Amino acid sequence: MTLDWPRHIPTLTDGVVWLRPLEPSDVDAVYTCASDPASQRFTTVPSPYLRSDAVEFVDRASAQVWPGFEVAITGDDDALVGTCGLRIRDEDSDVVAIGYMVSPSARGRGIATRATRLLIDHAWSLGAHRVALDAFATNTASRRVAERCGMTQEGVLREAHLGNGGIRHDVVLYGLLRSDPDVSPSDGGGVR
Ligand SMILES: CC(C)(COP(=O)(O)OP(=O)(O)OC[C@H]1O[C@@H](n2cnc3c(N)ncnc32)[C@H](O)[C@@H]1OP(=O)(O)O)[C@@H](O)C(=O)NCCC(=O)NCCS
Repeated sequence: MTLDWPRHIPTLTDGVVWLRPLEPSDVDAVYTCASDPASQRFTTVPSPYLRSDAVEFVDRASAQVWPGFEVAITGDDDALVGTCGLRIRDEDSDVVAIGYMVSPSARGRGIATRATRLLIDHAWSLGAHRVALDAFATNTASRRVAERCGMTQEGVLREAHLGNGGIRHDVVLYGLLRSDPDVSPSDGGGVR
């Protein structure tokens, strides 16, 4: 493997959003984010989501780096508006996977797109060859994030995931190779 995985959870910024290690003071905001109906429907967070789930998540995420890390997404006031993470999917092929969620009150402002671009750039700096993102087919917002970050839709796994509420989801596979053209304009790519 040629991945140069970090020993510490990184802090990253594009000057508009910051990715930083999670802290105990983030628990309430994580709870708000993960208990929202869209997060419950489109991610694998526990359902129902309890405050103790948020405490456990923050506790684990504030220390865990391998085989992946989760970070807080914040603005310049340091308040958590979402979480995102980078995880090794296949060590031998230098493939990493990205995931994210944004608080309901902060959605539609380009936050997930900016955070994902930061994680993608970081993945290349770690030596990744490929970045993967899986989204449920009905998750229009997440699929737009993938597309805005230049990822290619590569396939659909029909009814591959049994989600919360017993709903079966088609899973859309997105991928980006290090050698793919960079589609991120230096001004943030029209992200608000
Ligand atoms: C998916 C999610 C992270 C997007 O976060 P966000 O910060 O609002 O995303 P952005 O503002 O960067 O928006 C990206 C695109 O999605 C679009 N979008 C945002 N919310 C949308 C919605 N509810 N329906 C359709 N499109 C939507 C935006 O308009 C934008 O597209 P555009 O550039 O063509 O205008 C957020 O909706 C969320 O947390 N959802 C629940 C958890 C989840 O689904 N996580 C991902 C699992 S794969």
